[in-house]
Amino acid sequence: MKNKIRINFGTVSVTKKAERLILQALAKNRISAGKYVREFEEKFARLIGTTEAVALSSGTDADALALAVLYDFGAKRQDEIIIPALSFVATGNAVLQAGFRPVFVDVERQTLNIDASRIEEVITQKTRAIMPVHLMGKPADMDTINRIAKKYKLFVIEDAAEAYGAIYKGKAVGRLADMAAFSLYVAHMITTGEGGIVVTDRSDFAEILRSLRAHGRACKCNTCVLNTASSYCAKRFKYGDNRDIRFIFERIGFSSKMNELEAAVGLGNLDIYPAILKKRRKNLTYLMEKFREFQPYLYTIREEPNEQIGPHAFAIILGKEAKFTRDKFVYFLEKHGIDSRSLFLSMPTQCPGFKYLGYKLGDFPNAEYIGDNGLHIGIHQEMGQKELDYVLNLIKVFLLKNN
Ligand SMILES: Cc1ncc(COP(=O)(O)O)c(C=O)c1O
Repeated sequence: MKNKIRINFGTVSVTKKAERLILQALAKNRISAGKYVREFEEKFARLIGTTEAVALSSGTDADALALAVLYDFGAKRQDEIIIPALSFVATGNAVLQAGFRPVFVDVERQTLNIDASRIEEVITQKTRAIMPVHLMGKPADMDTINRIAKKYKLFVIEDAAEAYGAIYKGKAVGRLADMAAFSLYVAHMITTGEGGIVVTDRSDFAEILRSLRAHGRACKCNTCVLNTASSYCAKRFKYGDNRDIRFIFERIGFSSKMNELEAAVGLGNLDIYPAILKKRRKNLTYLMEKFREFQPYLYTIREEPNEQIGPHAFAIILGKEAKFTRDKFVYFLEKHGIDSRSLFLSMPTQCPGFKYLGYKLGDFPNAEYIGDNGLHIGIHQEMGQKELDYVLNLIKVFLLKNN
C-alpha cells in the first residue's frame, strides 16, 4: 500500500518579514553582523528574561564560547567540565573545542538527564564547571546541580539547545545558571538557519563573549567586534602605543559571528515563536498523555507538576517488556511514512571519536541503554490531531503484532 501521510521530523518557517529584511540587507550591501544581529540579541534576551544575549555561528559554539569565558576567571586549559554521558555529540565536542576535558556522568533512564546524585563522585581539583543538558526540553535537576556548584565553587552553564519554552519551578530555562547556550539551527523552535546564542545576566561575561566571537579581540564594544571601528579608537591608548586596536587579541578566540541574513531569519521567527510554542506544546501534551497506554513496552519522559517540558521533539524509549528491537520499530515507522532519529548515544562509550578518553562500554549503562533503545519523532507546528492520531494508531498496530 502506498503511503498517503508523510510525517517529517522537522519543519522550518521563514516569514515574509524575514524575506523583506534579507532583501533590505542585500540592497544596502550590508550582510556581515550589524543592526539586525543587535536587534535579534536584544529581543532574544527579552524573551528569555536575561539582560544580555550574544549571537554566534552555532549552538555548539554557544556551548564552547560560554565555557571559554571561564579562562578569564582562573580556569586553565585541560581543566575539567562535567557533562552528561548522553547528549547530542555537540556538548562533548564543545568542551574539547574550548580546550577543556569532558568528564561524563551517567543519565537517568526516566528523565534522560544527568543523574545529579552522581556528580559529586567525579569532582576533582581540576573541575571548573557543570554543563547540564535539558535533553528533549526536559529541565535537568537544577536545584541539586546549583547546590553542588555552590559547595565546590563551580560555574554552571545550561546547554539549553533543545529547551525553548521549558520552565523549571516557575523560571524559564536559560535563567537557571551563570549562562545558557541555545541552538538556532533549523531543527529548533527559533531558528536563524545556522546559529547559536548565549544568554546571561552578567555584563562582564557578555563582553568576553563578544570578544571571543571575534578571535579574542581586545576591544569588546560592538563597533570593534563587528569590525566597523576606525583604527583611531580611544581604547587603543590603554596599550600605550599606536597599534591598531582591531588587531590586538587578548584571549584565544573563535571566528563565530552571526550575519545579518541569519539574524533577519531569526527576527522573523521571533514573531511567530509564541504560536509555534503553543502548537508544539499542545502536540507534546497530547502524545505524552496517550503514550501511557504503551507502557511497559514503550515509554516517554514525564512532566512533573513543577516543570514544563520544552516541546522540542517526542522521545520514545523501548521499555523492559519490549519483545522487539528498535530497528524493527523504526523500520515499521519509516515504512508508514514517519521519520525518526535515534535518541543520541553515550558520547564516551558509543561515539568512536571519544575513545581516546579511555572510557569503556558498560561505564554508563543508562546512557548506553538509551543509545541502543531510544528514538525521537517530530511534534512540529505543521502536525495536528490527524497526524498525531495516525502515529498513535500505527504504534498500537505495531505493538499488537509484536508483543
Ligand atoms: C543538546 C545540544 N547541544 C548542542 C547542540 C548544538 O547546536 P548546533 O547544531 O546549532 O551547533 C545541539 C543541536 O541541536 C543539541 O541538541
